[in-house]
Amino acid sequence: MQFDEIGYWSEVKLDIIKDYARAYSTIMASQRNPAFYHMYIDGFSGSGVHISKTSGEFVLGSPLNALNIAPPFKEYYFIDLDGSKIAELQRVVGERENVHIFEGDCNEILLKSVFPNVRYRNHRRALCLLDSYGLHLKWQVIQLAGRVKSIDLFLNFPIMDMNRNALWRYPEKVEATGIERMTTFWGDESWRGAAYRQQALFDTDEGKTATNIEIAKAFQKRLSDIAHFAHVADPLPMRNSRGAVVYYLFFASQKPVSLKIIKDIFRKYRDRGR
Ligand SMILES: C[S@@+](CC[C@H](N)C(=O)[O-])C[C@H]1O[C@@H](n2cnc3c(N)ncnc32)[C@H](O)[C@@H]1O
Repeated sequence: MQFDEIGYWSEVKLDIIKDYARAYSTIMASQRNPAFYHMYIDGFSGSGVHISKTSGEFVLGSPLNALNIAPPFKEYYFIDLDGSKIAELQRVVGERENVHIFEGDCNEILLKSVFPNVRYRNHRRALCLLDSYGLHLKWQVIQLAGRVKSIDLFLNFPIMDMNRNALWRYPEKVEATGIERMTTFWGDESWRGAAYRQQALFDTDEGKTATNIEIAKAFQKRLSDIAHFAHVADPLPMRNSRGAVVYYLFFASQKPVSLKIIKDIFRKYRDRGR
């Protein structure tokens, strides 16, 4: 098994999710009348173990962190496209009745086999992490997560992949596959309006793109307006070793208390590693 090497900010991300998952599970497990049945869902789960580029040590990935949270979630769903990662995760987790491990495309598995189990009216709730390296997530998944009203969502907004493959200075030169992937993630072609500033008459600097944070803010608005999440935190920039933003970590929920908790956690980590 080849383990993924992860940078400093991926470790920060893991700590953020762990902090939030602990608070979430504590609140959910303490609720009575009605009692909630709360689940953890990891759409791009990885193998469960990485190697830290900083220390060279093994680091637990998001699915194993979730399994270690106390009080525990009632059920866990882990999905990855890579068969060798899923085999490793299955080996480490073993057979557990309340852990469901899937090999395949999470865009299909979440819609067909996972989100239908998180029914609001049955007092089911879920914390869902969608942490892809690049533009691999489909908007329908994000939209359904918002519509079911029972899901708190962490989402990786892969701005570096977007800049490499779709958001070019000269949009007419972008390849069709880049445009298609961007539209699939964003949900429609309105990303063009967000990314390419209105040109002033006689402006010679045609096709200049908006800044990363302006594009991320436009997506934040979509999470509220189109996916109907009641609360969407300002996204947290996640950087590489040179300080460039690789992606933004988004958090969206239906609950004001969730927003308050994540704001405190984001504040704690925002200035790390600068
Ligand atoms: C950033 S890693 C996940 C790391 C993990 N969340 C953690 O923090 O430990 C992204 C993973 O997504 C998987 N992947 C890529 N496309 C996928 C898809 N369409 N469905 C499910 N998994 C996918 C990759 O194999 C990779 O393991």
